Amino acid sequence: MLAQKPPMGWNSWNSFTSKIDEKLILETVDAMIEKDYRDAGYEYVVIDDCWAEHARNEKGEMVPDKEKFPHGMKYIADYIHSKGMKFGMYSCAGACTCAGYPGSYGYEYIDAKTFASWDVDYLKYDFCSFPQSGDCKTAYLTMSSALRASGREILFSACNWGQEEPWKWMRSIGAHMYRSTGDIFDHFTSVREIIMLQSDKFYASAPGCHNDIDMMIAGMYGNGNVGFGEGNSKCSDVDYETHFALWCMFSAPLIIGGDVRNMNDFCHKLLTNPELIAINQDEECRNPYILSPMGETLVGSSITYIDKKTRVMIKVLSNNEFALGLFNLGDTEMGCGVFYEDIGIPISSGAKPVFKEILGSANVNYGDASLGISLKPHECKLIKYRIEI
Ligand code: GLA
Repeated sequence: MLAQKPPMGWNSWNSFTSKIDEKLILETVDAMIEKDYRDAGYEYVVIDDCWAEHARNEKGEMVPDKEKFPHGMKYIADYIHSKGMKFGMYSCAGACTCAGYPGSYGYEYIDAKTFASWDVDYLKYDFCSFPQSGDCKTAYLTMSSALRASGREILFSACNWGQEEPWKWMRSIGAHMYRSTGDIFDHFTSVREIIMLQSDKFYASAPGCHNDIDMMIAGMYGNGNVGFGEGNSKCSDVDYETHFALWCMFSAPLIIGGDVRNMNDFCHKLLTNPELIAINQDEECRNPYILSPMGETLVGSSITYIDKKTRVMIKVLSNNEFALGLFNLGDTEMGCGVFYEDIGIPISSGAKPVFKEILGSANVNYGDASLGISLKPHECKLIKYRIEI
């Protein structure tokens, strides 16, 4: 079964948009191996939009841009496979891609066959230029079916930006992951918005089909092509830490959007952190249970429920393990905490949690019945626990 766990890989769009070519892709593959991304679990190397010639050939097939990809796509696939990784490509449910290259509308079976003949393992399928008369769900079902008929096992990454509530039907049409949001941009407000909009929409995200909240921005620091928005400043290390921790807690696909050839040490360590990745890749793929807004306090004052921007959540993992995430998504320092009885461990039961801190430098105040923490703006703390009885 494909996508038993959230897919992991790299995608060219966030950092390179149309500035892609064979050299970049092969260098990226090499960097993913040399810098241990592959061994950390990132297996797909995905070429996004702008890889094709503007015209199809006489057989109606898409053709790789001859200057960018002089040896064609099978050559890239062979290289990627020879390194023990998998190859992803991009097309669109509409007549044209978002950057104006040929889309697959009406050509689904031809294109699926072409991708299979290039030994593609993963198809990201976008939603631009979709005809008004068309039916969105049918279009995704058609490509999903075409891929299944192509003779090759191809992961279907359906990117439709949350149109028509895909969490309600994408699993049913056979997608392995579905983009539920518009494009991320390289600023913390974008991360916050995505989480706030999606946190109650992960109920269909499970082995075989996962809610994709977009490629990650960790490590970009304002470079690349998804900007950080007018009036916004670059993300800090803390912003990226919280971003990655959230993607891990939500079992979201982990698709790196930064330039892995030039990632700084901080983000390299973060993105390859085995304990965080284990939380993301837990075989049960559960979405977190969110306790907010209980127990939210303003630093130094009594309990208040006004700022809903702290998030306390637990993710139930396999083997009597749990991940507790304390997040301050707000722009001011905030305190938050949790009573053990609210996460299913009443002290009267005699059971007690045994904690192990995984991420974040803020000090936790562990009490007999609760724990509390003060978090700086955008900061988080991740703690794993087991329950002893
Ligand atoms: C859309 C998608 C992006 C990217 C671009 C390519 O905006 O949401 O992730 O694939 O198209 O043009």
